[in-house]
Amino acid sequence: MSDEADQSVGRSVGPAVVVGALGMLGRAWRELLQKRDIGHAGLDLPTLDITDPQSIAEHIGKDVRTVVNCAAFTDVDGCEDQEPTAYKLNAQAAGYLADHCKTIGATLIHYSTDYVFDGKADTPYPTDHPRDPVNAYGRTKLQGEQLIEASGCDYILIRTSWLYAPWARNFVISMIRLTRERDELNVVDDQRGRPTSAQHLAASSLFLLEKGERGAFHVTDGGECSWYEFTCEIKRLAENTCDVKPCTSEEFKRPAPRPAYSVLDISKTESVLGPMPDWKHNLAEVLGQMELQSI
Ligand SMILES: NC(=O)c1ccc[n+]([C@@H]2O[C@H](COP(=O)([O-])OP(=O)(O)OC[C@H]3O[C@@H](n4cnc5c(N)ncnc54)[C@H](OP(=O)(O)O)[C@@H]3O)[C@@H](O)[C@H]2O)c1
Repeated sequence: MSDEADQSVGRSVGPAVVVGALGMLGRAWRELLQKRDIGHAGLDLPTLDITDPQSIAEHIGKDVRTVVNCAAFTDVDGCEDQEPTAYKLNAQAAGYLADHCKTIGATLIHYSTDYVFDGKADTPYPTDHPRDPVNAYGRTKLQGEQLIEASGCDYILIRTSWLYAPWARNFVISMIRLTRERDELNVVDDQRGRPTSAQHLAASSLFLLEKGERGAFHVTDGGECSWYEFTCEIKRLAENTCDVKPCTSEEFKRPAPRPAYSVLDISKTESVLGPMPDWKHNLAEVLGQMELQSI
């Protein structure tokens, strides 16, 4: 990108507001905007409550050019018996943000999930594949997508999967701890997907925005694996000695059903940004930032 293009792009991103700024992806976004010197505010509960349109209007002013929505009800099992509450945050609030972005002329970057698809495919899901979620989390995230699509606001809708970061509660941090504490661990081997570094996701999202892209994209790390394969690599990098064994979803019952095949097709994103680094590369980079013994 030329210097000239770079400057005009920098002006159009900020001021930005990161919503759900204290969450896993929210922190990645705050650190990225800070590093890039893009003016922004990071907002979260209790200051901003996006389930309340008045709170949105009060905290996201007319000068804001970009709203990054990282807030969500992300407890997949919890959504099963709290679907109305999950709907308010994952769907209705996303709609409120979209309406507000339309009113103030800002671009909304919103995150959704591989769980909007049914998991019955055996090739990666393209962005326009029919959506048919198998659990309450997926249903509420789909309803959020639909409200944004219907709002008429300027948006980038990014589906992602299996998020991890050097901070926050996530699968990688749990597995570093468990493969250190336990001698043996069973991990599901019949669900396949794409892990995603939250830091890489935030950087890729910003690139899409800066390149003027709009609409639906899939952003994950490259490659694919099962949770079992993901865990084996986490254990290897953490130099733990636990005996990790494959098991089936049937053997490891959870309140919410999970799609078996959850690989998102990232070719549309790669045609704009180039190849996404393999998940093993991004995982090693994230573990390299961690004090493994303090986990
Ligand atoms: N995590 C994954 O594996 C994954 C996979 C696919 C897609 N995604 C999507 O990626 C996005 C980011 O996920 P994440 O894992 O980073 O989320 P997260 O860590 O759970 O963070 C969500 C943040 O939103 C805040 N929040 C909750 N209710 C709010 C409200 N009413 N108003 C304002 N903020 C509120 C939460 O605060 P409290 O903690 O106080 O509730 C939390 O700080 C979400 O859209 C998620 O659906 C995540």
